[in-house]
Amino acid sequence: MANKQVTVATIREMKQNGEPITMITAYDVAMSRNVNEAGVDMILVGDSLGNVILGYNSTVPVTMDEMIHHTKAVMRGNSTALVVGDMPFMSYQASIVDAMYNAARFLKETGCTAVKLEGGSSVVPLVERLTQAGIPVCAHIGLTPQSVNQLGGFKVQGKDIAAAQKMIDDAKALEAAGAFACVLECVPAALAAKVTSELKTMATIGIGAGNGCDGQVLVCNDLLGVSTGFCPKFVKKYANLHDTTVEAVKEYIADVKARTFPAPEHTFKI
Ligand code: KIV
Repeated sequence: MANKQVTVATIREMKQNGEPITMITAYDVAMSRNVNEAGVDMILVGDSLGNVILGYNSTVPVTMDEMIHHTKAVMRGNSTALVVGDMPFMSYQASIVDAMYNAARFLKETGCTAVKLEGGSSVVPLVERLTQAGIPVCAHIGLTPQSVNQLGGFKVQGKDIAAAQKMIDDAKALEAAGAFACVLECVPAALAAKVTSELKTMATIGIGAGNGCDGQVLVCNDLLGVSTGFCPKFVKKYANLHDTTVEAVKEYIADVKARTFPAPEHTFKI
């Protein structure tokens, strides 16, 4: 359980010591408090908020202002986890100046520690600039959901030799550029383990990438079973909050209809 402030140095140390790193997404103060109490090492305010909170069918529409709004809420509930703000689509792709400005907004306006951005060799110059400016970066390679239109869908990446070699090269280049961690999303387990073993200082955080990574991340709503419908193969549901919620609300409706709620203990006397 993380009981003192987790920093970039802590994450690097955990990689060195082979201690598994835990990361989970959160988008609001209540979830932030709960995952802190559970002792998670890192919280990602993911742009997956577009899908799981805002109801879009991809992360593409998410804006910087929405990310800042939710990261501020998460920071209000955070005590010890290292919080990473996810840079949304087109907040860093157009120019290095835009990217530096938007990344700085996360640190200055929310107080979070690091930013995450998607991409391999194409973002290496940016990662160098950000880390030189004192902005810790978590990279993200493999399936990069902001490029879903380019990739032609949400598919496992790195399945042939050329793609696998490119992923290893990208990871090494991101490490050399100064990224302290890197999400590996939807990558064959053997490739993710190989990437991890090739890296000295950048921790790999897997999602759909097997158990050979330095750490794991899951979307909180998936892990908790908040919704029904499609669930990726790599998700393990640790709870079924969908059924718990529906049952609780049904009981509330029944109580109100039967006038058994509010009971005397919920009622003020004159
Ligand atoms: O946006 C997000 O939540 C993510 C995770 C799935 C890694 O990028």
